Amino acid sequence: MSLLRVVYYSRQRVGRQQEAIADQLADILQASIANNRQHGITGAMIMDHRWVVQVLEGRPGPVTTAYQRIACDARHSDIVLADQTTVDERRFPYWWMAGAAIEPDMGDLVRRWCGDEVFDPSRMPPRRLVDLTEAVVTAYMERAPVPVPRAAAQHPQA
Ligand SMILES: Cc1cc2nc3c(=O)[nH]c(=O)nc-3n(C[C@H](O)[C@H](O)[C@H](O)COP(=O)(O)O)c2cc1C
Repeated sequence: MSLLRVVYYSRQRVGRQQEAIADQLADILQASIANNRQHGITGAMIMDHRWVVQVLEGRPGPVTTAYQRIACDARHSDIVLADQTTVDERRFPYWWMAGAAIEPDMGDLVRRWCGDEVFDPSRMPPRRLVDLTEAVVTAYMERAPVPVPRAAAQHPQA
């Protein structure tokens, strides 16, 4: 089955405090997981005090519809479609949508993937954005005191 992977970045409008970011991320993820599982969409997103990066993957129709809806959401702005590619396999087959805040102590990860102290997705190639998203989400889940439920049990392998 042909799959579409969309990668975008945007400016977040949820506030600069880590707590506000975590709260909003939780709200967004709750709605995303419920909707995405109905439409066979998987992916991941990361957010810091300035930016959002999200990867959406699934059948082209549902992914495009979801992207258009997400792009109208006032919790972010200045959306830039960084990449839109047909792929054979999902990069995030286990998550209807995983999400993580880039926390202040993730400097090593940011340096490794961004080649800089400062996270600026507008200066990163799409492939690196996907790599960084995966690395941040994985690091975040590994440190979570309560394991974040994965979609593995629920996800129909594409
Ligand atoms: C950064 C960001 C990412 C989002 N990602 C998704 C997503 O993957 N799937 C989704 O259904 N909604 C996502 N949303 C939320 C949608 O914009 C919208 O609020 C939601 O789909 C409405 O769902 P509802 O009609 O079930 O309330 C995202 C919103 C933001 C700000």
